[in-house]
Amino acid sequence: MNRRQFISQLGLISAMGLVPKSLLALGDTATSTFELFRQALQKNPELLGYQNYTQERVVDQLEIEGQFPADFNGRLFRNGPALFERNAIRYGHLFEGDGMIQAFTFKQGQVSFRNKFVQTHKFKTEQAADRFLYDFSDIGIPNPLPISSADTINPANTNILPVGDELWALWEAGSAYGVNPDTLETSGVIGLNDQLKGMPFSAHPKVEADGTIWNFGLDYGSGQIIIYQLNARGQLKKYGLIDSGYHAILHDFLITKNHLLFILPPLSIDVNAGSFMQQQKFDKNQAMRVLVVDKNNLQVKSAHEFPACFMFHFGNAWEEKDGTLKFDGCRYPDFNVMTVLGDVMAGQTSPNKQSLSQTVVFSIHPNGQTKQAFFDGLSEFPRIYPSLTGLKNTKVFTTSGHPDAETMHSIRSVNLETGHIDLFDYGRDYLVEEHIVVEQGQKAQSNGWLLGTALHWPSKRSCVSLFKAENLSAGPIARAWLPFHIPLGFHGNFKPQRV
Ligand SMILES: [Fe+2]
Repeated sequence: MNRRQFISQLGLISAMGLVPKSLLALGDTATSTFELFRQALQKNPELLGYQNYTQERVVDQLEIEGQFPADFNGRLFRNGPALFERNAIRYGHLFEGDGMIQAFTFKQGQVSFRNKFVQTHKFKTEQAADRFLYDFSDIGIPNPLPISSADTINPANTNILPVGDELWALWEAGSAYGVNPDTLETSGVIGLNDQLKGMPFSAHPKVEADGTIWNFGLDYGSGQIIIYQLNARGQLKKYGLIDSGYHAILHDFLITKNHLLFILPPLSIDVNAGSFMQQQKFDKNQAMRVLVVDKNNLQVKSAHEFPACFMFHFGNAWEEKDGTLKFDGCRYPDFNVMTVLGDVMAGQTSPNKQSLSQTVVFSIHPNGQTKQAFFDGLSEFPRIYPSLTGLKNTKVFTTSGHPDAETMHSIRSVNLETGHIDLFDYGRDYLVEEHIVVEQGQKAQSNGWLLGTALHWPSKRSCVSLFKAENLSAGPIARAWLPFHIPLGFHGNFKPQRV
């Protein structure tokens, strides 16, 4: 079989990989999930962030506390699931809602806002029909249409990445969608080349300091991982395939100066267990595997093992002078987090300690020996100074919260060398989302900013706050308030803009 045939077959398998009845559905039928959430929201206003959201809005000037620097100019773009319900049918998992882009524009001390749904094939056809059309979630949609490929049900709801002059709205199992950064209008599916049409393009690309973009996509059926290298304008430079022997959820990956790292949790698939999500089986007695891939030839160079755990997200990876590979991630001891993220759709919340994740630095020494270093406190949504992607870094910035709280309500940086934690607590009245590091000008790593959104549920409003990255505990230097709330999103990025 030549390479072209192989890619072609991969595409077919990839498309079929998502044909199973459900992508991520859990638990109750859709109608009861709808009713359970409706009832729970009346008793628990913290659920506001998971409420179905359909409005597209523009706000010319947000209410500002403090003062945004006049030279802090650019846009924060965020993406996340927003439309969960049609005709009293509610999806069964947080990951299934249609993607909505939020854009905060910072210009000479003022802040404006707009939001818009990504016009995916799924969203457009379901809007036109005024009902859900695809029963990938196994929620009993009447007269569902067939699902011919992953992109048929691609909600483009996970991340938004500036690439060249446009934005790419990203999901995990399908294509990127192009979005105009000024209007948030969708331009269409991004095609890298004809052979790669419909290939999975995951939601956590890694961008090197020179703009080079690396990404991957896993074909669940074959266990093949496709690796992409793109230039800063999003044009394909090269791609390759590795055989991972892995068939379950794979959300993120890492790069170093010379390598790509694929971290494979001990998940396997039980095809008789119902939905795609229910098919994921975590085995605490199996190792977490790490595949180290050479960036030059895209071949697996070595494989390593760590004790069982699960991670959605990684902060960074790098190579020490002696050849030791290091990477950090937000480590869950098990897979319970995925159940928690499903339960919230039915209005069930639980303390953070039910899905406790903490920052861990993993080391792979040249002799093959492995080590783990644990850092105290809850952590998720790790971000670093962007210019250090793949290079040695000291600090990782994460959301955090008290184990007994039901939300992430603080942000912090962790010094991975000293263990020092610099923390700001918004308070338990807030649902705190991912905060990203923005570098500006000279000495970017000592003059950086941390920028992020939070939902203040008692007032039903969302805000965006700016901190000095090296002094979080001093609190935000400025905060801009929307007059309403926006749904909780997943990931975003900042695009600087000259004024
Ligand atoms: Fe993610």
